Amino acid sequence: MFAAKTYNARRRELRTRIGQGIILLPGNSLAPNNYPNNAYYFRQDSTFRYYFGLNVPALVGVIDADSGEEALYGDDFTVEDIIWTGPQPTLHDMGAEVGVTKTFPLGDLPARLRKAIALGRKIHYLPPYRGETKLLLSELLGIKPGALHDYKSVDLMFAVAEMREKKSLEEIEAMERAFGIGYEMHTLAMKMCRPGVIEREIAGAIEGVAKSMGQGVSFPSIVSQHGETLHNLNAEGVLEEGRLLLCDAGGESLEGYCSDHTRTYPVSGRFTQKQKDIYNIVLAAHDHVARIVKPHMMYTEVHNAAYMVLAEGLVGLGILKGSPADAVAAGAMTMLMPHGLGHGLGMDVHDCEAMGERSFDFSSIAERAAQSGTCIYRAAWRIEPGTILTDEPGLYFIPALIDKCRAEGLYQGIVDYEALDAYRNFGGIRIEDDILVTETGSRILGDRKIPVTVEELEAVVGK
Ligand code: GLY
Ligand code: MN
Ligand code: MN
Repeated sequence: MFAAKTYNARRRELRTRIGQGIILLPGNSLAPNNYPNNAYYFRQDSTFRYYFGLNVPALVGVIDADSGEEALYGDDFTVEDIIWTGPQPTLHDMGAEVGVTKTFPLGDLPARLRKAIALGRKIHYLPPYRGETKLLLSELLGIKPGALHDYKSVDLMFAVAEMREKKSLEEIEAMERAFGIGYEMHTLAMKMCRPGVIEREIAGAIEGVAKSMGQGVSFPSIVSQHGETLHNLNAEGVLEEGRLLLCDAGGESLEGYCSDHTRTYPVSGRFTQKQKDIYNIVLAAHDHVARIVKPHMMYTEVHNAAYMVLAEGLVGLGILKGSPADAVAAGAMTMLMPHGLGHGLGMDVHDCEAMGERSFDFSSIAERAAQSGTCIYRAAWRIEPGTILTDEPGLYFIPALIDKCRAEGLYQGIVDYEALDAYRNFGGIRIEDDILVTETGSRILGDRKIPVTVEELEAVVGK
């Protein structure tokens, strides 16, 4: 947790941006795993934590934008609770730690909101992503769960996303600590990688590192020889000589900030020439992005720059024909890298996407984004100093996608499908680092480099 002044300043800025109405920020509650008293590991809602700091379940933050009142709603532990949990601070004491003096039982919240609604006041809330929160909001606001998205506050979504996106110095320090966890996870995976090891053994070991150094993983680890499957959570494969292992994993610092890195390397510890050729194309795209990112660029500019470098490399290998620019313009790269170059990173691994893309009416948001300079929809995302985004180009040979494009007659004269046949069982390569946009340019986060060149990887894999 940061000092109270951080949360005071954030709440003050939020209420100034919103201007009027009541800002309602529910934290997460415990989600039962198989029965109520056996819950999943608790993960606080990042926006609640950003403004109210507390990593405790079942709290609701309220900010009255008109009066400036800030309050926390939640229930103090009873003796029956304490028998199981041990002594706990009161809500009043927890509130004081984050600069909130007004605390109330959760049971007082419905009446307060009913009164505000009766007075015609706007209740600003973010689109909920969890069932428990949907039910809570539904009950508090008298809106059916399925209709909650219709009444969400777009003003609040923009204000929160714009504030959370711009990282302060203390947040950057927390992100550096998250990097430290990621570094240990990835270098351990590299050392464990050798024929005969089960992917799951590596995934389990690195997730243990994340848990021992911080809050745990920032997302379920992807440890797979099927790197062509973008988010492959099956880790039952036994590592085989000659194959590549893709490891996409990250940790969360104790303050709840995320890292997200990917490395791909040969199980044998030695790249074949063919693997090296593809690897170095992806690395060139990764390095190019790290060189060019600077404030005020549009995200799409960065994405397309990565596509260009990949296309140049693929023309060199004879997989694409003609000019790289024509291949990119024709959309051929979407067959070989069917994802965005990166995403925002912060308290969430896809930062602020909970307020996300699927919730928006794209036509109106693009117009607003042009004015505000930043938004969650990545095609209209302008990167500014303080933004942290991932740089994660890849090349993937996905038989089902290649076959579909070929059958539909796509990219004729651009993709050499016969040449591509030789890569049918190649798998996929992704390389990912986290980039901080500074006032003048950008830098890759971290005080060390996670091995990334062919030589660096060959020196550590299986050692
Ligand atoms: N780890 C998920 C991603 O890289 O987007
Ligand atoms: Mn990743
Ligand atoms: Mn990522």
